[in-house]
Amino acid sequence: MKDTEKQNRPPCYIVAIETSCDETSVAVVEDGTKVRSNIVSSQIETHRQFGGVVPEVASRKHVETITWIMEEALREANIRPRDLSAVAVTHGPGLVGSLLVGMVAAKALATSLELPLIGVHHIAGHIYANRLVQELEYPLVALVVSGGHTDIVHVESEGSFRILGQTRDDAVGEAFDKVARALQLPYPGGPHIDRLAHEADESIALPRAWLEPGSYDFSFSGLKSAVLAVLNQAKMKGQALEPGHVARGFQESVIDVLVEKAVRAAKENGARQLLLAGGVAANRGLRAELGRRCEEEGIPLIVPPFELCTDNAAMIGAAAYLKYVRGQFSPFDLKAEPLLSLEKWSV
Ligand code: KG4
Ligand code: ZN
Repeated sequence: MKDTEKQNRPPCYIVAIETSCDETSVAVVEDGTKVRSNIVSSQIETHRQFGGVVPEVASRKHVETITWIMEEALREANIRPRDLSAVAVTHGPGLVGSLLVGMVAAKALATSLELPLIGVHHIAGHIYANRLVQELEYPLVALVVSGGHTDIVHVESEGSFRILGQTRDDAVGEAFDKVARALQLPYPGGPHIDRLAHEADESIALPRAWLEPGSYDFSFSGLKSAVLAVLNQAKMKGQALEPGHVARGFQESVIDVLVEKAVRAAKENGARQLLLAGGVAANRGLRAELGRRCEEEGIPLIVPPFELCTDNAAMIGAAAYLKYVRGQFSPFDLKAEPLLSLEKWSV
């Protein structure tokens, strides 16, 4: 859109709802780029006692919190309901019972205010969290690393997604959480592994799963098994292993593969920017190493601030704007799709 056209339009305010996993979040985003409010209520404390997310409990918690979070997001944004332009909601991928809560709330709000509805792909949201940070330049490559996904995505032009590679087994965040559990660290384990790895002065040697030459895919289950084997052997021999050394060895192996493949994808696809996205993007080791390699290779890297890395609704509002400006609205019988395809969601 030309700048003059933008200046002549009233601002677009999208109210966005995200409930795909264990965060209930509502945000108001202006013109796809400015966060007017972004309220996130995490259920981590509830799920910690179970060592992971319990879908039925997550769904019930979303029901309990969604209404007041919606009110809070609108209040903090200081925007009258009649000035809103559209209602956006994550409709996949995710836990179906969790997605449904956000979708019912979004449909109710859109119906009562007579606003268009925009269904958003959760990973498109993670990628476009970066649009809340700075202007994007295409083509670009995004490295998406979360609890449910590990993808290298080629974005040829605005909102046009092609998956270059993905995990063949565990998502990277899932591997962090499973290794953390083996080290008896609390859920979610990613931040604890990150801290231990940061403090450790040594690391144990662990394998790297490069897969076939040229592949952009990932595999983390072998690495997780290797960690468990090392821990078991040490236990059987009565040796005490330093958890920090294990955490650092595991994290180094993960980072090596992620960084190498993401940088190669960016170079081979002529990317003008490399974006980091998803909960694991909060990892300090990954941010530092990716930053170092991108500088070496002359690739501009964009990394969102921590609060925009983990699940939040502002990123959903940013992605929804792509559809809003093209008038691509969703029908009111929009379904929750636990396995929604990112490529098909392209604008
Ligand atoms: O994107 P996200 O909030 O939720 C999903 O869509 O999955 O990602 C959550 C994941 C969890 O597995 C968590 O352990 C991981 O992100 N995570 C981290 C860090 N902070 C969160 N992993 C490694 N290092 C971190 N600092
Ligand atoms: Zn996520």
